[in-house]
Amino acid sequence: RPTASLAGRKIAVTAGPTREALDPVRFLSNHSSGKMGFALAAAAQRAGAEVTLIAGPVNQPTPPGVKRIDVTDALEMRETAERAADLCDIFIAAAAVADFRPAEISAQKIKKTGDGERESLALVKNPDIVAAIAARKERRPFTVGFAAETEKMLEHARGKLARKNLDLIIANDVSAADSGFDSDRNAVTVIDAGGSRELPPALKTGLAEQLIEIIADKAFAQ
Ligand code: PMT
Repeated sequence: RPTASLAGRKIAVTAGPTREALDPVRFLSNHSSGKMGFALAAAAQRAGAEVTLIAGPVNQPTPPGVKRIDVTDALEMRETAERAADLCDIFIAAAAVADFRPAEISAQKIKKTGDGERESLALVKNPDIVAAIAARKERRPFTVGFAAETEKMLEHARGKLARKNLDLIIANDVSAADSGFDSDRNAVTVIDAGGSRELPPALKTGLAEQLIEIIADKAFAQ
């Protein structure tokens, strides 16, 4: 099946987790491997696009012909994503951005207090990167998000599509076996204002090809 041509188009993709430092040796993060976002970047490049891949800390090879920018935490990912979004036609947020970061980063390794068994950690909310890009009045790319859900997948994903003002959302059930975080495979449902389409479980590389085709068709439909 031929992939829609993206020659001359610019696409930015975020991938992987973010790491939110607590102190010089510790951080908060999640299990995202970057596989889904890297597969999308590779598929978009093969379809002819000029691709910028904004990657959190992952252990993945850079796809051939893709411009990769490595970042560590959510604030750095936002800055890099905002700059890439100024120039791109399509922005795809596959990264698992930490929703919160420690309110303070301790300059020294945090010591055990010694008394009770419980410690608490003050957190502050991170900015929502994809929602800020989708809220733009000017230089707004066609904006695609993901929804990582463990229950009520379609309902929650539709909520995110609307709340974040996205053009399209790709929902995955991250509690399903051999799917979601860190797996080579995934099962997704593509949702937009017009309806939804479920793609059968498959390798992330194959799904990425299908997703890029669907996204390209929707973004350049006129
Ligand atoms: O990396 P892999 O191991 O291959 O796994 C792939 C994946 C499961 C991480 C991927 O398919 C996926 O679902 N990515 C989104 C994960 C996520 O954080 O989902 P969310 O439902 O919490 O966020 C919704 C959307 O908002 C996402 O597009 C996310 O990138 C974006 N977001 C979230 C928070 C934030 N502060 N800024 C954001 O841009």
